[in-house]
Amino acid sequence: MREIRFDRFGGSEVLTLHSDAPTPEPGPDEVLVRVSYVGLNPLDYKIRDGSSGRAEDLGLPAGTGREMAGTVLGAGSALDDAELGSRGLTAGTRVFGMRAPADSRGVAAEIIAIGADELAPIPDEIPEEDLPRWAGLALVGLTAIATIEDTARIAPGQTVLVHGGSGGVGQLLIPMALEAGAAQVWATGRAANADRIRDLGATPIAYDTEDWQAEILRETDDRGVDVVLDTHYHSTFLPSLDIVAENGLVVTLPTLADLTPAHERGVEARVPRIRPGRDRLDRLVQGIRAGRYPLEVSQVLPLAEIAQAHRLLEDGHTRGKLVLDAGA
Ligand SMILES: NC(=O)c1ccc[n+]([C@@H]2O[C@H](COP(=O)([O-])OP(=O)(O)OC[C@H]3O[C@@H](n4cnc5c(N)ncnc54)[C@H](OP(=O)(O)O)[C@@H]3O)[C@@H](O)[C@H]2O)c1
Repeated sequence: MREIRFDRFGGSEVLTLHSDAPTPEPGPDEVLVRVSYVGLNPLDYKIRDGSSGRAEDLGLPAGTGREMAGTVLGAGSALDDAELGSRGLTAGTRVFGMRAPADSRGVAAEIIAIGADELAPIPDEIPEEDLPRWAGLALVGLTAIATIEDTARIAPGQTVLVHGGSGGVGQLLIPMALEAGAAQVWATGRAANADRIRDLGATPIAYDTEDWQAEILRETDDRGVDVVLDTHYHSTFLPSLDIVAENGLVVTLPTLADLTPAHERGVEARVPRIRPGRDRLDRLVQGIRAGRYPLEVSQVLPLAEIAQAHRLLEDGHTRGKLVLDAGA
């Protein structure tokens, strides 16, 4: 079977397509899945180039990719038909999910073994052409839930600024912040993405044509916003400290973000941590089904074009999700 691997940390050129990889054996609590599509995330290139904390203990050669959609082929010894049935994961079922944080194996392959706890069934009514979106849902969805509920704990009536509102996580942070009762959500992005941000329910601020800090202060009568959800960090974190309201909170997503400047100024700042689990995957299913989370897939590339996909990711301007077609 085909699988993407890399045998050293480096640029996108280290990603290699192998066409003679062995089919994995599922562990006792694992399910064997034929992968249809692979969702890509900035974490993928941070692991590949060695800059992520997750790269520290990674044995090479390694696989790549954290989330996917596919079809159940079989299961390990601890999962009999009754157990699989109760989980809705019998052979032939279409599923989506992501690797548990501690599981460093990749998913960019034609067949993978993955923990049954990390998967949820895709509803039968979902058409095949919608599967790329499901492949890109789990990681950003679990991140957005953790950000809104566990870390920011958005309360009704709060004002919120999302940096990167049209990115993978941003496209879910906006509707979830509104669902949590935010009184108003603003979101930064390039002017080219303003319509998308508006469609998601936020007031767009085009950082490439406007002074977003001035705009926030003007719109909040100099008070600032209660919560900043910063998916970008690099050029947005420090200036955000000037537009967060008194006793406000800055949540920044990159795991290695340095929060010291915020703490030195007495501003509360945190980084969210994903809590995986079937309950949250099922909530994402309900949200997608109800049309509440219109996560967009901007591009689907063949598995063999993974290096190009990583270059696009590294540009930092992905709209919604980039997805690989594992069958192409
Ligand atoms: N802590 C965790 O558990 C966790 C989990 C998931 C992701 N993350 C991290 O969260 C970050 C975002 O992930 P993602 O999947 O949403 O990335 P993404 O899909 O690549 O989106 C990046 C977004 O950033 C925007 N952007 C670029 N420059 C900007 C600027 N100067 N000001 C405002 N927005 C800007 C882009 O919009 P434009 O094109 O309009 O510029 C794009 O929408 C990554 O660093 C990722 O590693 C952390």
